[in-house]
Amino acid sequence: MTSGVVRLEACALPPARTADTAHLTPPPRFGRTTFAGYAPQTDVQAQAKSDVQAFVTSRPRPWGPLKWLTRQEGRGLYLDGGFGVGKTHLLAAAWQAAEWAPEHKAYLSFQELVYLVGLLGSEAAGKAFSRTRLLCIDEFELDDPGNTLIVSKFLRQVMTHGTDVMTTSNTPPASQGQGRFAADDFRREIQGIAGRFTVVALDGSDYRAPPTGVDVNTAETFAADLQAAPPGSVLAGAQELTEFLRALHPVRYGEFLKTTPALFLEELPSLPGQNDALRFVHFVDKAYDLGTGLRVSGDVALDGIFDDSYMDGAYAKKHRRCLSRLSEMLQEPVSSAG
Ligand SMILES: Nc1ncnc2c1ncn2[C@@H]1O[C@H](COP(=O)(O)OP(=O)(O)O)[C@@H](O)[C@H]1O
Ligand SMILES: [Mg+2]
Repeated sequence: MTSGVVRLEACALPPARTADTAHLTPPPRFGRTTFAGYAPQTDVQAQAKSDVQAFVTSRPRPWGPLKWLTRQEGRGLYLDGGFGVGKTHLLAAAWQAAEWAPEHKAYLSFQELVYLVGLLGSEAAGKAFSRTRLLCIDEFELDDPGNTLIVSKFLRQVMTHGTDVMTTSNTPPASQGQGRFAADDFRREIQGIAGRFTVVALDGSDYRAPPTGVDVNTAETFAADLQAAPPGSVLAGAQELTEFLRALHPVRYGEFLKTTPALFLEELPSLPGQNDALRFVHFVDKAYDLGTGLRVSGDVALDGIFDDSYMDGAYAKKHRRCLSRLSEMLQEPVSSAG
């Protein structure tokens, strides 16, 4: 094997994480994203861009001791739309454009937020974010009743104290949870959350839509890129990857990927079980955000990894987004890995 590339089964699991709320910034892929780089494709997108810009650049209200005199609640903006239409782009651009010092703004994924709040408890998490003036949450998704309760309590706390929250989602706020758990039982919580946000819709088609026919890499490309792989790259078989993803809590995939400049999959896993499929989707999401290089060879075609029944089930959008991201990653140079 190429020197510098290690087999996945030889990789140690990353150490357990602590509840650190410092350094919550956009991931490498969106580290330099700006409003100027967003070219609206439709009128609705142009309107959304200007709404988001207004949300973060409108004159900041008093903060610090003075805020207690005015007692204004934090505002909420909820960017809703299909995948690939630029929601995360606008969220990261908003974070960049907000004129708060870095310690007063935080950017994280919904999964990361749930993990942090779960670790700290809602109240301590509210305190940990008490200096946060703008909180950006990517991919808001209520897929569990327990998460719904802790997130609604947390948001109530920070927004009551004046934190502005901007979030993105594939699901309109009032439809959160549908098809995944008995959302009816949680309607009050969900409506409570929804009521805090102004919804800004984004339409359009997947900006990164691959030219048709993009599929796994050829054996030649795979071998050549493996030869030139950056040190610390990881090589894995399909089963090896599936087992690794089962052994590590999904919220920690990012820690593993941060030290992995590129990933070489000898074959795409075929994922008949929904749990394995969702773990893989989350893993690809993290790799995408972090800019991890990716090469895939083998016989399983991109659209063959998920069972057909998932492509129109409750998680269909996640699976389609995953395929879109995979095809974008396969076309990127491996050396651009962040
Ligand atoms: N209108 C646009 N102008 C420039 N780049 C865009 C636009 N829409 C999307 N992109 C780019 O396409 C990719 C996918 O967009 P992203 O924001 O991740 O979509 P979403 O979060 O809606 O799924 C990103 O690299 C993003 O920068
Ligand atoms: Mg996104």
